Amino acid sequence: MKLTPFNFPTHADRPYFFTSFVSTIDGKIIVKEKGYWPIGTKADYDYFTYLRGHADAIVDAKHTALQFGKHTIRTIHDETFQNYRKELRKKGFPEYIVLTSTPDAQLTSVLANDHGYEPTIITPKEGSERVTIQHLIDHLNDQEYKHVFIDGGPTLIAQLLEAGVLDEIHLTIAPKVFGSAPGKTLTMVEGILFPPDKVPQFELVSVGKLDDEVVLRYSLSKIHIKN
Ligand SMILES: NC(=O)c1ccc[n+]([C@@H]2O[C@H](COP(=O)([O-])OP(=O)(O)OC[C@H]3O[C@@H](n4cnc5c(N)ncnc54)[C@H](OP(=O)(O)O)[C@@H]3O)[C@@H](O)[C@H]2O)c1
Repeated sequence: MKLTPFNFPTHADRPYFFTSFVSTIDGKIIVKEKGYWPIGTKADYDYFTYLRGHADAIVDAKHTALQFGKHTIRTIHDETFQNYRKELRKKGFPEYIVLTSTPDAQLTSVLANDHGYEPTIITPKEGSERVTIQHLIDHLNDQEYKHVFIDGGPTLIAQLLEAGVLDEIHLTIAPKVFGSAPGKTLTMVEGILFPPDKVPQFELVSVGKLDDEVVLRYSLSKIHIKN
């Protein structure tokens, strides 16, 4: 599959939000044990990196940042990513934003780097337990960002879906089956079970092929189907 620039739409009142996940055939996006990562191939990782090259900001919730934050900071500074940025006419580095209610030493050490690059940690406003999606949007609007990549993880994806603002999902299906055991695996969306009349509905935009993997591109349908 050839990597060609995505011409993402824009919104007047908020950034356009897009995400990319890699999943097994049985819908697992992580196993909380060693030996299962990476789920996708190098070709999938290149696709993911290219997609992130389009972003004005990359947003993680805490657990994803703890697992992959160091890697994300390294990636956005490497030559491949910087070449993508040039090709896509994007300036500099995307802002790397982490949402947490518990900013601690572990997170600080994950975000520490030798590039002089300063990630942003957003914490809840006083009286709030979580950073609301509107709070996140306000921060992004203040920076005049138009295209924002939501890295994850599943609890953040759930909140954006609930707010009706996750505009695009790119989903790679890796030809594997992990199976499951209680508490050991996650799917792309965790923490919210949508009521039947509020099930987020997407439209298929394209289907790509990376050898044995498929890459599905979905965009948010404004019609929520009752089922
Ligand atoms: N396969 C894939 O493509 C893929 C992609 C992304 C992630 N993942 C995996 O997903 C796993 C993490 O998923 P997860 O669901 O456990 O965690 P997560 O969504 O990454 O992080 C959840 C935590 O972030 C904080 N948080 C979330 N929303 C917040 C908000 N609105 N305001 C403030 N804090 C907020 C909360 O912790 P505090 O309250 O303690 O701060 C929450 O417990 C990782 O293993 C990662 O590798 C896989």
